[in-house]
Amino acid sequence: MTPVIARTREELASARAEITGTLALVPTMGALHEGHLSLIRRAGELADAVAVSIFVNPLQFGPHEDLDRYPRTFEADVAACAAEGVDLIWAPTVEEMYPAQPQVRLSAGRMGTVVEGASRPGHFDGVLTVVMKLFNQVRPDVAVFGAKDAQQLALIRRMVADLDVPVRIEAGPTVREADGLALSSRNRYLSPEERRTALALSRALRAGEQAAGEGPAAILHAARAVLAEAEQADPPLVPDYLELVDPATFEPVGESHAGEAVLVVAAKVGTTRLIDNVPLTLEPREK
Ligand SMILES: Nc1ncnc2c1ncn2[C@@H]1O[C@H](COP(=O)(O)OP(=O)(O)OP(=O)(O)O)[C@@H](O)[C@H]1O
Ligand SMILES: [Mg+2]
Repeated sequence: MTPVIARTREELASARAEITGTLALVPTMGALHEGHLSLIRRAGELADAVAVSIFVNPLQFGPHEDLDRYPRTFEADVAACAAEGVDLIWAPTVEEMYPAQPQVRLSAGRMGTVVEGASRPGHFDGVLTVVMKLFNQVRPDVAVFGAKDAQQLALIRRMVADLDVPVRIEAGPTVREADGLALSSRNRYLSPEERRTALALSRALRAGEQAAGEGPAAILHAARAVLAEAEQADPPLVPDYLELVDPATFEPVGESHAGEAVLVVAAKVGTTRLIDNVPLTLEPREK
């Protein structure tokens, strides 16, 4: 069965009215890959019907970011959604989504200004604003997000808690290529040589993971060594940040931290900016 494709609020309203039972939403920017499809499958387990939104949100791109060249593969995305049994595709134009420059917006607060937010000022405000609009437009019971964007996921959970948004948030694990590279729509920018260099991100996370028993400093040291080597590669990796943070706040954890943490990394290869992360559980250590 082919999904209903809604392009306008009116089309969305009539398609939404046809859906009985529970609805799960998977928000995306399109250029769908196996990571997205894994979230769509999870959504299918969580609700009677599945909606996928496809919208490249200008509000979450900085002035010098890749909004104009962001991959757009709508026909292939529709085919992929059809193959997964998606019921509804919500694909508004920018004009439909933002008939006027939005004056009232959400603020991600402090968590929106650290780590990824420090490198991309305003990014998470733009993400939360569009996600709230998508929730209000589609009115899902549950929404599914990927762990690959760990800070985004943490902020959406926080938004829903802080603002009593009546949507349940579920997460799917990061889907990777066999060699470790986290799937991302932006991977298609990479040349074969750049892709080889980009493997250092997941390799650094694995090195950190292996040092998990030795505490935060050792984890960061092990991961940093892998990044340092890749900085010498051709083409080189240009690291942005590597941090071990509390998954709920994205503040760095202290050396005595025990419990959940997430090792997060961002780097550029050529003109492509990539992010990745791995969740870690730190055992209490002897002094
Ligand atoms: N490799 C992946 N595994 C699991 N979920 C993913 C993966 N990549 C993206 N997602 C999730 O898919 C949803 C839509 O993300 P988005 O459309 O931005 O894709 P993307 O691959 O992250 O693209 P880009 O890297 O260009 O931002 C988000 O919830 C995101 O976390
Ligand atoms: Mg993304």
